[in-house]
Amino acid sequence: MPLEIVRNDITKMTVDAIVNAANESLLGGGGVDGAIHYAAGLELLAECKTLGGCKTGKAKITGGYQLPAKYVIHTVGPIYKDGKQGEKALLESCYRESLALAKAHNCETVAFPLISSGVYGYPKDQALKVAIDIISDFLLENEMKVYIVIFDKAAYKISEKLFSDIAEYIDDNYVDEHTDYHRESMRMNMPTQASIGMFEANLCECKAMIPEEDLDAKLKQIDESFSQMLLRKIDEKGMTDAECYKKANIDRKLFSKIRSDVHYKPSKPTAIAFAISLELSLDETEDMLKKAGFALSHSNKFDIIIEYFISKGNYNIFEINEALFAFDQSLLGA
Ligand code: APR
Repeated sequence: MPLEIVRNDITKMTVDAIVNAANESLLGGGGVDGAIHYAAGLELLAECKTLGGCKTGKAKITGGYQLPAKYVIHTVGPIYKDGKQGEKALLESCYRESLALAKAHNCETVAFPLISSGVYGYPKDQALKVAIDIISDFLLENEMKVYIVIFDKAAYKISEKLFSDIAEYIDDNYVDEHTDYHRESMRMNMPTQASIGMFEANLCECKAMIPEEDLDAKLKQIDESFSQMLLRKIDEKGMTDAECYKKANIDRKLFSKIRSDVHYKPSKPTAIAFAISLELSLDETEDMLKKAGFALSHSNKFDIIIEYFISKGNYNIFEINEALFAFDQSLLGA
């Protein structure tokens, strides 16, 4: 999964580079800046003193010293006033400049805090959206693993409206784990013994009505594997393989495994990530999941949140992951 949102203390992250939300002096401060300097030791401050400060929106790199990370990329976020002083452009620049520096130093893994969302007062959900948008754009063109590190859950929230919308959708659709199979299967149109018999009887009848060649094509699709359906859908959507797996937030290695093994069985989050990337309808998603041996269930919040986004036609996998993270669910992707 090239972009992951994790809860952690960034000073503990074993990555090639961690990003520091610094101030223009680069001489340390509170918040994540203070934590990084404390964990790195005095040598970090000594190197920072040689840099001559850093302009807001820009970034500079130093060693990591006693940190598990090899480098620290210091960037200075904007102080948020009213959102009309160019704050968003400056914050975007922090992420772009930091990613460019990480790339120039051949970093394969980078961890960001939510820049400007603490002392500098940038609204958390807007700060997160900027981070996700800029990082995901970068990852469409570059191979890197990027973490957005949320230090405290309270510091992390998706927009109130979205959160309450999803919570309401869960309430409307969530069924207790112990719902009687028969009742749930009727609601979910899952086959019961009686309905299977009826379906087979109808199938014979409707076989006569569908022209042979259409039926062959339809039956072929029933037999195709997950991998075959995935590749067929990529072609039908006119996407390249890379566009598909990057939009699914899946790394290239996993995609190559699926492409080369016609019987490959992906995990459920991976199968759903591809359905989202291909912007499949709910029925097509169910069909693709079935080929991997899964189904969307109303006794599973993760599935209901996925169903919520597909039913709204919102296929932005990073927004979906933000929502899954807010509801303490595992994230989409590999
Ligand atoms: N790991 C990860 N994230 C952290 C950590 C940590 N150890 N400590 C704090 N954070 C989070 C905060 O919860 C917040 O969401 O980092 C985000 C940025 O908050 P600040 O550190 O306050 O940074 P910022 O809002 O950009 O303000 C920068 O604060 O510390 C001073 O010297 C710094 O003057 C500069 C200003």
